[in-house]
Amino acid sequence: MSDSPIRPVRKAVFPVAGLGTRFLPATKVMPKEMLPLNDRPLIQHAVEEAREAGIEEFIFVTSDHKDMLAKHFDFQPELVETLKSRGKTDMLQKVQDSDMPAGALFLTHQAQPLGLGHAVWCARELVGDEPFAVILPDDVFLAEKSCLAQMVEAYNELGGNLMAVTDVSKEDTARYGIVDIKEDKGKTVSINTLVEKPGPDKAPSQTAIMGRYILQPEIFEHLSAFETGAGGEIQLTDSMVKLIESQPFHGFRYDGQRYDCGTRLGFIESNLAFGLSDSEISGTLEKILRNLLNPSGALNEAAE
Ligand code: UTP
Repeated sequence: MSDSPIRPVRKAVFPVAGLGTRFLPATKVMPKEMLPLNDRPLIQHAVEEAREAGIEEFIFVTSDHKDMLAKHFDFQPELVETLKSRGKTDMLQKVQDSDMPAGALFLTHQAQPLGLGHAVWCARELVGDEPFAVILPDDVFLAEKSCLAQMVEAYNELGGNLMAVTDVSKEDTARYGIVDIKEDKGKTVSINTLVEKPGPDKAPSQTAIMGRYILQPEIFEHLSAFETGAGGEIQLTDSMVKLIESQPFHGFRYDGQRYDCGTRLGFIESNLAFGLSDSEISGTLEKILRNLLNPSGALNEAAE
């Protein structure tokens, strides 16, 4: 495989068919991926990251009641006209930035939430026989260059399969997929195998997988076995472990900070971090935080 030319990554799969149970009741009707992080929903952050990485085709794996996710990227003529007539050009620009280029959004349906591996498998016909990216919208990154854009650059040199990794504390290995490292080259690591959520005593390293992947289409051969793994779900990790036997896999240590929008606390932390990095609101947000943490100081600040 190393002799064959590296094929470009043009397509990205966004698995968005999960139930989002950790956010109930907020996600009873509204998809988790529509929760706003600062000024835009999680799914828009994910799509913008993919666009920065040069992705041309955006494949959403959705489920019932998730039409809103695709609608968010539609042209909204009434809204555009209203903003124009009111002279709200900044807001108009923001709305237009969220439109999807014509013919670039593709939808496929996961009838039952059987697991992340099954969701990715549901995209097989739309992906076809070419490498593709997978983006989990509840993992978000604050980075100068988007995480996927960094990964595509590395992939164009390395080929094979790539996943975003970062080093976590020993106590945290049980929260992530952990990499068994063959060779650590600093920015990248070549991978022997993966272990799903090992305790600190069982973890082969402290290098953890985050929700960005570039995969070769042969992954579908393994996913189509529909084998269930942890939690009774069809796991993407299990098929990656099988593919590692026949193809190179690399972990990529991205530059930037990753936040977990899949949990309530992580979501609040992410909103604070994104707010503090947004020059439009960061100054006032800092004041609000100081006041909340020190109410008597707030009186002083208000009195100033
Ligand atoms: P999560 O593990 O966060 O699951 O999935 P979830 O259902 O969204 O949330 P909880 O655990 O019930 O709170 C990671 C990503 O994979 C998608 C989710 O939509 C999310 O973007 N996913 C997961 C699917 O598309 N289908 C599935 O069967 C499972």
